[in-house]
Amino acid sequence: MLDQLKQLQAEALSAFTAAKDTNDLEAARVAYLGRKGRLSEIMPQLASLSNDEKRLAGQTANEVKAAIEGAFIAAQARIESTVAGANAERAWIDMTLPGNRPSVGHTHLTTQAIADLTEIFAKLGFNRQRHPEVDWDYYAFEALNMPKEHPARDDWETFFVADPDGKDVQTGELGKVVLTPHTSNAQVREMKKGALPIRMINISKCYRRQISARHLPVFHQIEGLMIDGNVTITDLKGVIDHFVKNFFGPNTKTRLRPYHFRFTEPSFELDISCTVCNGEGSVQGTKCKLCKAGWLELGGAGMVHTNVLKAGGLDPKKYTGFAFGWGVERTAMMRGGLKLDDIRMMYKNDLRFLKQF
Ligand code: DAH
Repeated sequence: MLDQLKQLQAEALSAFTAAKDTNDLEAARVAYLGRKGRLSEIMPQLASLSNDEKRLAGQTANEVKAAIEGAFIAAQARIESTVAGANAERAWIDMTLPGNRPSVGHTHLTTQAIADLTEIFAKLGFNRQRHPEVDWDYYAFEALNMPKEHPARDDWETFFVADPDGKDVQTGELGKVVLTPHTSNAQVREMKKGALPIRMINISKCYRRQISARHLPVFHQIEGLMIDGNVTITDLKGVIDHFVKNFFGPNTKTRLRPYHFRFTEPSFELDISCTVCNGEGSVQGTKCKLCKAGWLELGGAGMVHTNVLKAGGLDPKKYTGFAFGWGVERTAMMRGGLKLDDIRMMYKNDLRFLKQF
């Protein structure tokens, strides 16, 4: 029995030394120290020994058991520290590795156009002013030579703000409140500041009761106004030309076409040579898909009407000026040479569209 015990100790010790992970360790523990393990198997033999032999074998058995338990504890400690080491290695962070870059967005097409418009006009001394987007209809219409009930007002599909039909704080007159259907309300408001000469642009949101593939109920316009002692149509043409060449490209041409607006006299529609066919009207023999005969309509302009100057408190004998206005979204599309089937695409927030600009 003594030999068996020594043999068992040797085997157990090498089993624990060889254990590589917690599974090996548990298997060895069950095999040698378990209730039905090898040590327990040997113990019944004690019963058949003489008293002297029994004492010696019992003592040896205890020593063997202690040695095996010691080997178990040592192996357990070794395996735990290896596992902890491996975990620590996995958790280690290399601070020098490049991180995951967050995706960087960019400004919306309309915002880009607003920034460019502002910068281009600033070079000519036109400062961007802010005027209300909810205003008295006086500034949107009457002061612009469109008296109450004038049919020309129908061209601006206006949102009237319910209720207030109160007194205009500036004029004391009764009026309605509108969501500005165009940015031209800035004209008389700017004149009334009383600081001359005037060179301003007003870029704001406009609101009209229209929604379709070609119309947005909320969109942006730029309004420009210059007033001084001797401002002429030539100045208007020069300023527009400067803008058009800087915004659409140096080869773009400008055309003023006679038109009618209530607040300017004479009035014009502004056209630019097409950004796709360069004003040719056709590309390699086929009719241009974007323009009509080489020209694209940009917006309206004209010399400020004497009634408008008067509404602004200016003497038409002393002052003359020009005004212009157009839609920012349209301008952005024209620059890109884009003909959108549906203008609402611009505000659908579809990244596949937005990322292209
Ligand atoms: N306010 C006009 C519109 O919404 C555009 C316009 C035309 C503005 C002529 C002007 C101008 O300043 O002179 O259609």
